Amino acid sequence: MRELIAEKMQRLYGCSYDPNNEITITAGGTQAIFTAIMATINEGDEVILFTPAYDCYAPAIELAGGKPVYVQLKSSDYSIDWKQVKKVVSRHTKMILINSPHNPSGAILEPSDIQELTRITKDNDIVILSDEVYEHIIFDGETHHSMAKYPELANRSIIVYSFGKTFHVTGWKTGYVVGPSNLMAEFRKVHQFNVFTANAPIQYALAEYMTNPDHYMHIHHEYEEKRNIFLSAVTASRFKLKPTKGTYFQLLDYSKITDEEDTELATRLTIEHKIASIPVSVFYHNPVQNNVLRFCFAKENDTLLRAGEILSKI
Ligand SMILES: Cc1ncc(COP(=O)(O)O)c(C=O)c1O
Repeated sequence: MRELIAEKMQRLYGCSYDPNNEITITAGGTQAIFTAIMATINEGDEVILFTPAYDCYAPAIELAGGKPVYVQLKSSDYSIDWKQVKKVVSRHTKMILINSPHNPSGAILEPSDIQELTRITKDNDIVILSDEVYEHIIFDGETHHSMAKYPELANRSIIVYSFGKTFHVTGWKTGYVVGPSNLMAEFRKVHQFNVFTANAPIQYALAEYMTNPDHYMHIHHEYEEKRNIFLSAVTASRFKLKPTKGTYFQLLDYSKITDEEDTELATRLTIEHKIASIPVSVFYHNPVQNNVLRFCFAKENDTLLRAGEILSKI
């Protein structure tokens, strides 16, 4: 499986990883992130991360004795405010944690972000932890800017992937990390004692499935179609939306409908209207009210149409 991953990374991102020393199979993306943080962060180290953020980052940083340093993404489009990042980088900064395509907003890194990140990390030892679990779920002909494509960034990056996302098998809990051998050696010191090895029979099954690139190179078509079905189904509603660029999450802005807090509205929609969403404020360190809910469109098309009917009446 590691050989297949090395071949895939070379083909997609032009980066060569040694299957023996630079690729490790993990029990999903969450374990990969936890282990990468435990392996690199010590007491007092600072980790810059961007909010709203996926929920497993900060607990791992704190457990390792590190300090999460939160930078808020711009509320207009959830892009990174690099001026803010420059202000918080210090001699204690050990890691910058990025996630593209981004959960919960669906935003993706642009070439200008890559330039900024390269500049900021040029003369220091900052490690990049890059959560790229949605690498294949990206729409409208956009490109995924993996850290692996940029040698200066790849040399300092631990990159996390998840078969749960790519092959739609969340419960199989299998993923992998790639990174330069010095970082991977540290990663494996922790991995050795918290996992030892990821479930072997499942690795054989996934490896066989992975031999055919069609199984992952085209999944964005299916999700893009689902996104579009969901978007058409809610166009007549009072929700405001910008089509998501990646992931299977779509944000809907409800400012024209109510001034309830997003947690209240999400609860009410679930109980009264039987439609579940995640209030985006919960992805912040200090909850921010942007009046947006996150909906998941990795559903049957009929379910998406029914969701559209419900949301159009609200
Ligand atoms: C951004 C992000 N990273 C990592 C994960 C975890 O992946 P896994 O299910 O493989 O543990 C998720 C799952 O929702 C996610 O959204």
